[in-house]
Amino acid sequence: MARPLPDILKIRWPEGADRPPADTEAALDRAADILRAGGLVAIPTETVYGLAADALDAEAVAGIFRAKGRPSTNPLIVHVSDAAMARRLAGAWPVSAEAIAAHLWPGPVTVVVPRGPSIPDIVTASGATVALRCPDHPLARRLIEKVGRPLAAPSANRSEAVSPTTAAHVLESLGNRIDLILDGGPCGRGIESTVVDCTVEPPRILRPGPMTRERLEAVVGTTVAWPDTPLDAATAPARSPGLQSKHYAPRTPLEMPADPLAHVAALLAAGHRVGWMTMAGAEPQVRQLAGSRELVIVPMPANPDDYARQLYATLRALDQRELGRIVVDPVPDTDAWRAIYDRLSRAVTQR
Ligand code: TXA
Ligand code: MG
Repeated sequence: MARPLPDILKIRWPEGADRPPADTEAALDRAADILRAGGLVAIPTETVYGLAADALDAEAVAGIFRAKGRPSTNPLIVHVSDAAMARRLAGAWPVSAEAIAAHLWPGPVTVVVPRGPSIPDIVTASGATVALRCPDHPLARRLIEKVGRPLAAPSANRSEAVSPTTAAHVLESLGNRIDLILDGGPCGRGIESTVVDCTVEPPRILRPGPMTRERLEAVVGTTVAWPDTPLDAATAPARSPGLQSKHYAPRTPLEMPADPLAHVAALLAAGHRVGWMTMAGAEPQVRQLAGSRELVIVPMPANPDDYARQLYATLRALDQRELGRIVVDPVPDTDAWRAIYDRLSRAVTQR
């Protein structure tokens, strides 16, 4: 029997207030009760919405894998309210993890460290390491404090689909599979955290994200390595099973051609309906094509932070328009765009 749709409770913490309003506290209390009883609650973070369960309760965590349809070989990130909680969960605490926690937490960066004995096997996919993150979202941290336990939380979408950046996205993806959605509004960052393997010297980025390599190197004091390229299941199964190349994908076939203008024109000529995410919307040749009824042009920001914030909502919106193809302009090949390039290249349809 299908479960009913979950309640969606709005939560907020007004600028300057020393605590959240009473209705928000009540919503967090209800979420904490559900989590302590082994349930699943979708929560906002600064990156994307997470699907949370008590990280120390193996049964509850099993519910995350079922709701997402996630393979059990893909380990979860454990969310903590502060660095002290992280240290208690780790089997060892490398200096690079300490530097990141001290200077960049709370923030959009996850450290992979040796796992301590309290973490159930299911969280780490039986691996020897655990991924830990302190989110830069005061209500997410307050919820963790209320539960009094760390929360395992992958992105709150079905496995391999686009991550959610609003409560409505979560409802669309996981609707009747979860117990409650906390709605904190759209996520400020819009793409998943940077994941850094702190068990190796020098530390290595496993998943590029909003925290740039430059900032990591500045606090760690050594070089920080980029992922092996391409980082996919074929080349790096042991290091991070979840980082396969097919991921973050809309259902509509997506392409990132070197010459998007020519490509879009050719697709239109062949009778396809096309969605085009472009940074060149003002250019005359683009404006010429813009008259076509078969073409949906979505202007994308030229700044990587703004681009990231809009990326997943744009992919989801285009996915609902019955298009034959989504075409994305190639993004600049620079460190600042690395995380976006990574997500787009994983979304590109493999043939
Ligand atoms: O921003 C984020 O990180 C969001 C929010 C909700 O915090 N969470 C998120 O979780 O993106 P998820 O499960 O969608 O992605 C976690 C990634 C996966 O690629 C997984 O393979 C990797 O982190 N990971 C988890 N534990 C790991 C470990 N012990 N070693 C290596 N990689 C790990
Ligand atoms: Mg995910």
